[in-house]
Parts: sequence; C-alpha cells; structure tokens
Amino acid sequence: MTVTIRPMDAPIGAEVQNVDLAQDLDGESFRTIEAALAEHSVLVFRDQNLTEDQQLRFSRRFGDLEAHVLSQYNHPKHPEILIVSNVKENGEHIGIYDAGRYWHTDLSYMAVPSKGSILYAIEIPHKDGEPLGDTLFASSAAAYDALPDDTKARIDGLSALYSLDHRHKKLVADGDAEAVLSDEAKTKAPECVHHIVQRHPVTGRKILYVNEGQTAGILDMPAEEGQALLKELLSYCSDASRVYRHKWRVGDVVMWDNLPTQHLAIADYELPDRRYLWRTTLRGQPMG
Ligand code: SIN
Repeated sequence: MTVTIRPMDAPIGAEVQNVDLAQDLDGESFRTIEAALAEHSVLVFRDQNLTEDQQLRFSRRFGDLEAHVLSQYNHPKHPEILIVSNVKENGEHIGIYDAGRYWHTDLSYMAVPSKGSILYAIEIPHKDGEPLGDTLFASSAAAYDALPDDTKARIDGLSALYSLDHRHKKLVADGDAEAVLSDEAKTKAPECVHHIVQRHPVTGRKILYVNEGQTAGILDMPAEEGQALLKELLSYCSDASRVYRHKWRVGDVVMWDNLPTQHLAIADYELPDRRYLWRTTLRGQPMG
C-alpha cells in the first residue's frame, strides 16, 4: 500500500495513512513522510504499536536524537526516549509530568534547539468516553505572516533570551513547588540567545520564534517595553485560528516540525487517570 497524506480540517497538520512504523520504512515512504512534515508541520499516525527500538529506529531516519537534559525522566534503558507521564512509582514521578504546560517549541532554551519530536501514546486518560490531555499545535510561520508590517519591521534583527530556568520559575510561581530546576540542569542548559525571526531551512518561510514558556525577554530594549512587545507577539503565536488540536488515542504517533510550530498540552486530568507517552527528540542545526 502507498503511504497517503490526508490534510487535517485545520490550518496545520495531516494524517499519514497506510504506514506501519514498526517496520523499517522503504525510501519512498520515508521521503513522502519527510515532505509531508515540511508541508503540514504536524503529522499523525494512528493505530501504531511500537517497541522502544522501533520508535528509535523510525526517529533516527530523520537524524540524530537528543537525550533530554532533565535526565531523571529519560527511559532507564533508552536515554533518548523521554517519558512524558503523570504516573508516580514509590512516590516519584517516572516521567516529565508537566511537559507542555506552556506554549513552547522543544529545546528553544538550548543553543541548538531540536528539529522535531515524535510522541507515541501508550496510555491516555478519558472521561465519559472522551480523551483528556489534548495537545494543541500552532503555526508560528503563519503567526509571522499575520503580523502587521510595522511589527515585522520592528522585530527584524531583534534577539531574545531563552531559558529553561525561566520555564521552571513560571511553574513554581503557578503553584508547582516541585518544579525548582536542579543546579545540574541549569549547568546543562544555560540561558541562550536566538533571533526572534527565524527562517525555515527547508521551506524558507519566516517564523516568529518566541514562546510563552521559554522566552524570558527581548534584548536591547528597556525591560518593560520588551515585555509588552513579547506579550503582543505571543498573542499571535497562540491565536486559535492557527491551531490544530490533537485528541489522543492509544497507539497514536504524533510528529512535529519544531521550528515552525509551538505546542501546548492541556493538563485536565489527574491520577488515578494515567497518561504515559514516549517522546524522541531530533537534534537540530545551529540557527540564525
Ligand atoms: C511535549 O511538550 O513535548 C509533550 C506534549 C504532551 O504531553 O502532549
């Protein structure tokens, strides 16, 4: 069967049909998926059944993988798999329980952010037959396009500060006392600077590269003015008109192009309802 791409009824996203990711993909199927990712930014593969090795093999077709800096949440036998879960064993979180709590692009707080991520759903909470813990994806390429011309001119050449610690301080301020970032993680992920307008290496589209969770402030302007500008830009990034909302099913694999998208996970469930997913994270290229 030939791999088929069916665009979502949404501004971004497509479903990839007729593919079993547990099998080693032939070259043509891989190229179809790679091209669909560049075109649609978010791909959904339904009804998959993967082992760790199969997820890693599929992910490595797209390049090298990252082991997450919050290493306590990495899979004990496969450190390139990040466990995304609210499950606790012996009172300890077995995975990152607050991933996606704010709009973000993965690893924007690193000097070299990730190229993309692949998230495989193994357990999904439900209420009255409906899945909980949806993930929202927004197009930050479309967000850039929607900016007024004078704002585009104003942000051209500007840079911002990105910080994992900023995200964790926000979590603590929002009531999660456990979220204090360890000194080890601060050392592995020191704050970094990126231009706030990026260009996609494949499509050439301009991208509004600021996000709610990890952008601490805009540089080279008074702090108050920078925060006001950041707030204005963030309102474009999360505008509902540019969002695909994924309702998870067990067996879904969702893959996203990290540069032109941002995502947000809705935390509308709690134990004993379990959410458990594996994420692989593709290493990126240095950015402008
Ligand atoms: C993430 O931010 O990578 C995880 C998203 C999710 O838990 O749905």
